[in-house]
Amino acid sequence: MFVNLFSYLLMINFSLLTYNHIFDSFILHFLYFHHYLRKENFIMGFGINNRLSRIIKPKTGKTVMLAVDHGYFQGPTTGLRDLKKTVTPLIPHTDCLFITRGMVRNCIDPRSDVSVCLRVSGGPSILGELSNEDITTSLEEAIRLNAAGVGMSIFVGAPNEDRTIANLGRLVSEAERYGMPVLAVTAIGREMARDARYLSLACRIAAEIGARFVKTYYCEDFYKVVEGCPVPIVMAGGKKIPEMDALQMTANAIKEGASGVDMGRNIFQSDNPVGMIKAIRAIVHKGATVDEAFEIYSKK
Ligand code: 5RP
Repeated sequence: MFVNLFSYLLMINFSLLTYNHIFDSFILHFLYFHHYLRKENFIMGFGINNRLSRIIKPKTGKTVMLAVDHGYFQGPTTGLRDLKKTVTPLIPHTDCLFITRGMVRNCIDPRSDVSVCLRVSGGPSILGELSNEDITTSLEEAIRLNAAGVGMSIFVGAPNEDRTIANLGRLVSEAERYGMPVLAVTAIGREMARDARYLSLACRIAAEIGARFVKTYYCEDFYKVVEGCPVPIVMAGGKKIPEMDALQMTANAIKEGASGVDMGRNIFQSDNPVGMIKAIRAIVHKGATVDEAFEIYSKK
């Protein structure tokens, strides 16, 4: 800061003494503020923007994230019993994996160029109170694993709502120091409908607390959820549904403003996971129609 100020003052001096012309001085001031300050801004935001661009692709402004973090509370769930076997053929069609550190270390080839968004929260299993989560993985570990982002859940309207939201605040404060974008995964209380009212509430809170992007479920009037949330929203797939319905839901979400998907079961539990992820990609990145995408999925 002082060095910058010093060189600026030198420049003023130089312009006044050498040229002694107000016009030259004006030009130098203009160049300084325009070139130098803009450059500094750019450098400061490089880390976080570079990481984000490994997740949300700059070419389309969208992402196909593959969520395979389910084991962190569900154990070896259907389709992910052998995570490496399931995920390896999907990696070439994936922009970013949403995954825990344990599965990255043990199941992902480090030579792969897929980016990783690390799930860093956990605690309870499906047998306990799901909202009872804390941060389970350090920022240092995320950096060591070359993560492009970190993600955690907030549970709005659930018993530990306040703790999970406060944890998000703490994670964001630490992550921003290292230029690491935080994804907030929005879960809502068991008795609450997964509708635009409650999902908007959860997504907006996540953005207010500082999440750089947010994951939520599709709902009727999804565009209202997008409208109320100034950061990109990626759509979770939810329970396995017929492929045609999952493709239609994806197309609707994209049309209503989603920045892509972070989808798990509707890809890896499909009878043709590679076909399904290619079909989802075609909708997200190429604006394919649902029928075109279904055709892609149907090719074995
Ligand atoms: C669970 C998660 C999952 O990643 C999320 O549910 C996405 O997977 P799916 O498309 O199977 O719903 O964050 O908390």
